[in-house]
Amino acid sequence: MVVERAGLRLPWTRGNFVDSLAAGHSAWTLHSEAGQLLGYFVAMAGVDEMHLLNITVAPHAQGRGHASQLFGALIALCRRCGALELWLEVRDSNVRARSIYAHLGFAQVGQLSRLHHHRIFRRPWAAG
Ligand SMILES: CC(C)(COP(=O)(O)OP(=O)(O)OC[C@H]1O[C@@H](n2cnc3c(N)ncnc32)[C@H](O)[C@@H]1OP(=O)(O)O)[C@@H](O)C(=O)NCCC(=O)NCCS
Repeated sequence: MVVERAGLRLPWTRGNFVDSLAAGHSAWTLHSEAGQLLGYFVAMAGVDEMHLLNITVAPHAQGRGHASQLFGALIALCRRCGALELWLEVRDSNVRARSIYAHLGFAQVGQLSRLHHHRIFRRPWAAG
């Protein structure tokens, strides 16, 4: 929860994590050699697709390729599950994350404005 609160403007609550795990969503963590939590993702499998619900890297560890490592694990998970594409939402204001997603091969395919300004990104994993 320390990493989550430090990393996001609207962090998940402990209950969000508990509910996601209870629902059977996939959660992966990345640790340093010393055992310190560096980052994690939570993803929900759909029919032929995967939805990334949360990806966070600890602020002190950002910019060192840890998100790329987590995406590598996530795409491997997609392959194992038979998911053909990966979806995620990101707030308009999260310019760095949007730029990183574009760099990692995601394309914006829509926009949500109902509650917050969110953009929807999609990446077919087969695209490389
Ligand atoms: C978004 C976040 C997960 C990225 O984590 P990170 O560990 O800093 O990202 P990485 O260092 O792995 O960078 C990922 C890739 O983007 C590239 N990159 C880094 N900054 C970039 C930028 N500003 N623009 C474009 N590409 C960038 C990196 O070079 C890397 O690509 P490579 O593997 O080809 O070299 C992290 O900043 C974070 O946790 N932010 C707070 C929580 C958040 O916003 N989560 C997303 C909510 S949708």
